[in-house]
Amino acid sequence: ERLYADDIEAILRLKKERDAVILAHNYQTPEIFHCVADIRGDSLALARAAQTLDQSVIVMAGVHFMAETAKLLNPEKTVLIPDTRAGCSLAEGITAENVRALKAAHPGIPVVTYVNSTASVKAESDICCTSGNAKRLVEGLGVSKIIMIPDEFLARNIEAETGIEMITWPAHCEVHERFTPQEIRQYRRIHKGVTVIAHPECPPDVVAEADFSGSTAQMQDYIAEKQPGKVLLVTECSMSDNLSVFFPATSFVRPCNLCPHMKRITLAGIRHSLETMETSVSIPAHLQNRARQAVERMLAA
Ligand code: 13P
Ligand code: SF4
Repeated sequence: ERLYADDIEAILRLKKERDAVILAHNYQTPEIFHCVADIRGDSLALARAAQTLDQSVIVMAGVHFMAETAKLLNPEKTVLIPDTRAGCSLAEGITAENVRALKAAHPGIPVVTYVNSTASVKAESDICCTSGNAKRLVEGLGVSKIIMIPDEFLARNIEAETGIEMITWPAHCEVHERFTPQEIRQYRRIHKGVTVIAHPECPPDVVAEADFSGSTAQMQDYIAEKQPGKVLLVTECSMSDNLSVFFPATSFVRPCNLCPHMKRITLAGIRHSLETMETSVSIPAHLQNRARQAVERMLAA
């Protein structure tokens, strides 16, 4: 029988031996998130942290586009992804060719690309965004029309918040697109007084049912500030598991939609990755500068 404790002990030892740091997204399972991660957070926090690390090896406990972003910001470091199959329906939902066609159809309109995208799509973009900075960032552009890709729902939700017209692409997060307004109303009937927090990757009619919408880190900040007695996080399953450790006085209703990509990352996989130094992420040379610029513009904005 494989014990978590053995893997955790080995990972903690290997981190020192390899001069490695583990970055974990908020959707990682609690044994990864709470027991071996050095830096935890939303996509924005992980990208920011990736800029400031001393270690020579970065292990991304998250999905492939997050490892690519870390590599773009640290071309000289080894960035390991414990399972290369950890993809994302948004990143896989659009190609660089699609973006070139959109730009040709809408000349002069800035392209804002969600970090949930491949390096080749980022390379075609003016600037990246995350769900944590999208509103501030698109408002900062000072334009009335934007090509916002690949997440149609994020773009529509930001359009509703800012009044800026969005040209969208029909890609969705396979986790958040499954939530429905009916389901949220049913939860409210069963759990009287529950605070509903929805991720902006949810369809706009789901976000309209929520008390607050924000990135996974903004969800955490909102709970820290408001200290609600009961919370429904309309997002990936592990989010409630992880936050319940930080907020013992809050009870979490758990509408569970699992991200199969995030769940490819396991303790055993992280251990194996540190033992073998596999799989090291690389980005084709011709994409590196343009893709990095789009991410760096986001971080500087
Ligand atoms: P954030 O953590 O930036 O809110 O992103 C959510 C997500 O779906 C990442 O894949
Ligand atoms: Fe992609 Fe959605 Fe999974 Fe995040 S939760 S990695 S956006 S499929």
